[in-house]
Amino acid sequence: MATLGHLPDLWDVVLADYDEEMGSSRFVREGALEDRVAYVRKLTGKPVVCVGRFTSPDSMLGQVKRGVVDLVGAARPSIADPFLPNKVREGRLEDIRECIGCNICYAHDFRGAALRCTQNPTMGEEWRSGWHPERVPAGTGGSVLIVGAGPAGLEAAHIWQRGYEVALADMAGEAGGRVSHESRLPGLAEWARVRDYRLSQIKRMPNVTLYLGSTMTAPDVRSFGADYVLIATGAHWRRDGVGRSHARPITALDAAGVYTPDDVFAGRLPQGEVLVFDDDHYYLGPTIALKLASAGVQVRYVTSEGRAGSWSQYTQEQERTQRALIELGVDIDVNVALVAFERSHATLSCVFSGRTRSVAASAVVLVTSRVADETLYRALVGEGNDEQPINSLARPGPDAVTRIGDCLQPAMIANAVYSGHRAARELGSIDGNPRRERVLIQAGP
Ligand SMILES: Cc1cc2nc3c(=O)[nH]c(=O)nc-3n(C[C@H](O)[C@H](O)[C@H](O)COP(=O)(O)O)c2cc1C
Ligand code: SF4
Repeated sequence: MATLGHLPDLWDVVLADYDEEMGSSRFVREGALEDRVAYVRKLTGKPVVCVGRFTSPDSMLGQVKRGVVDLVGAARPSIADPFLPNKVREGRLEDIRECIGCNICYAHDFRGAALRCTQNPTMGEEWRSGWHPERVPAGTGGSVLIVGAGPAGLEAAHIWQRGYEVALADMAGEAGGRVSHESRLPGLAEWARVRDYRLSQIKRMPNVTLYLGSTMTAPDVRSFGADYVLIATGAHWRRDGVGRSHARPITALDAAGVYTPDDVFAGRLPQGEVLVFDDDHYYLGPTIALKLASAGVQVRYVTSEGRAGSWSQYTQEQERTQRALIELGVDIDVNVALVAFERSHATLSCVFSGRTRSVAASAVVLVTSRVADETLYRALVGEGNDEQPINSLARPGPDAVTRIGDCLQPAMIANAVYSGHRAARELGSIDGNPRRERVLIQAGP
């Protein structure tokens, strides 16, 4: 390097450990590549550029000022906010939609699927749906009531700059829904930006009012009299074991020792010998196991897949996930499903042979699947009036009710944000369908 340093016009530093260069916020801190890049910088007089899991303009500028890099590389920050350089130039730092480092974008790329971003729901819809990342068409206007200030409700509320009067209500004392709960788990603090970015925008929007600690019943919603109602009441984790491994509830479950992630969020932590059954396969099962183990609880992590948090292979997190569990002394059982839990022991069944064995457990945490919290939605639309898209309603009125986010379909946070964004864009519109799905020429007579 000392000999070749002067030859290229520019050095683009690439790390040998792609898990670190492409690291997620769960395991790699912002600007983590600095020492390696600084070393290269010392060996050449030519400009140096490098990525570095930057998210904030402060850390980007800091490295330039300290002489670590001459140019900043920013892949994920540009996906989360393609207008980041403009906003820095215009001094609009509070408007930057900062990347949370979840790697959902990379997971979609890895799997050959259309790119999605947790922070930027317009990602991949620029041409397909004509969605500009910064501009939303004015729409018809009117009053909107959104029940639920989780990721879907917050996203929907914050995109109408004018024309709409928006009331956003949540029964909880804080906004954010699942994002607020999950961001308190180990390694997930940066995910709170999904909430914080939208809240900071809403605070500056005179047409949006946030009502926290406000439980809305169906009569409340009707008497509120909004032209449009979006129900974003979220979802809860199942307590009966239904999930990938079990289409029906597990019958042998001693309810007194059964916990779900919602219990953990509420501060009800199991004690003793705790078995975490991960039938979800992403971050939550391992993260709860890590939280309990850090608190000194003896944890056994059980998954029906071959690796801990197996889906996180797509987000470049699987190996670090398993390593973190091992380092904290968590026992790991793979390729087994929980089939029974009674008082002091649990029964595990091999997913290949069905052969069972018993392990000691005084409590189990079931991370299996979620159910939509749709009671309010059902009370408003009735059972036989499901999935009436809001944009198919010819006139605004109290029947213009739609549900969004996890209340429509429990899924990833990125899906909830997308769902809220789409509903808001299409509100009152008869032309909201993605371009490629629009009928341009009618075939036939
Ligand atoms: C969706 C996505 C696709 C990527 N595809 C490639 C690729 O094809 N080749 C490559 O060398 N790096 C690829 N990368 C890695 C980026 O070039 C970059 O090294 C990495 O995202 C770290 O930079 P960042 O912290 O600015 O995001 C990709 C990253 C993302 C988010
Ligand atoms: S998907 Fe996550 S990691 Fe990727 S750009 Fe968006 S917020 Fe950042």
